[in-house]
Amino acid sequence: MTDFDLSQTDTLLTTTRAVRKRLDLERPVSRDVVRECLEIAIQAPSGSNRQGWRWLVVTDADKRAQLAEIYRAGVGGYLEGAIREAAERGAAQDGRVFESAHYLAENLQHVPVHVIPCIQADHLPADPPRHVWPGLMGSIMPAIWSFQLALRSRGLGTCLTTLHLSQAADAQALLGIPDGIMQTALLPVAYTKGTDFKPAGRRPLDEILYWDEWSGG
Ligand SMILES: Cc1cc2nc3c(=O)[nH]c(=O)nc-3n(C[C@H](O)[C@H](O)[C@H](O)COP(=O)(O)O)c2cc1C
Repeated sequence: MTDFDLSQTDTLLTTTRAVRKRLDLERPVSRDVVRECLEIAIQAPSGSNRQGWRWLVVTDADKRAQLAEIYRAGVGGYLEGAIREAAERGAAQDGRVFESAHYLAENLQHVPVHVIPCIQADHLPADPPRHVWPGLMGSIMPAIWSFQLALRSRGLGTCLTTLHLSQAADAQALLGIPDGIMQTALLPVAYTKGTDFKPAGRRPLDEILYWDEWSGG
């Protein structure tokens, strides 16, 4: 046994949700709390311990407004189409996710802090083969998730978003990101309205678990 309080750690791990509508757009977020969460995030693993992560934190209101425009350009008509399509097939849970995503897209400029986690990619060919991607993304996504957990345990929240990445060049120009540094997400960070998040519905483990060999679908 360990000294961990499993009810606390398991609750943290199972209730850290994608927060959009419950981001508190009014309450300021200090640099100190962002730094504290990032200090925790960079304890995450990275391939070859390369630590190629770079964290761009945007608080400037004008830049956030421009990032929100870039994000909405990335969204295009995707979310509105997805909301319609979910309604047509009666997929209420999917519909709620897309509506919430649409709300975030409309309000992104009001979220007090935008964090863009980046990864050094200048050691890779321009169009890397498929086997390279797990090592690259796997060297930033665990840190992003740790950041999300650290935020949650301090009363803040975020939502991992990737929809601006089709327009990453515009964000790169806006923020002066060098070539060879790859943006991997945009995390809108704020305190949450309440902290009573719940475990989400998921496909049963037994439908997606295989022992010793692949079987079924
Ligand atoms: C790789 C990845 C990309 C995502 N991109 C977006 C995005 O661009 N916009 C958004 O609103 N949510 C985005 N999400 C959030 C997912 O919609 C969310 O995690 C999912 O609906 C499950 O909800 P939960 O995290 O609360 O369990 C993304 C999540 C992941 C893991």
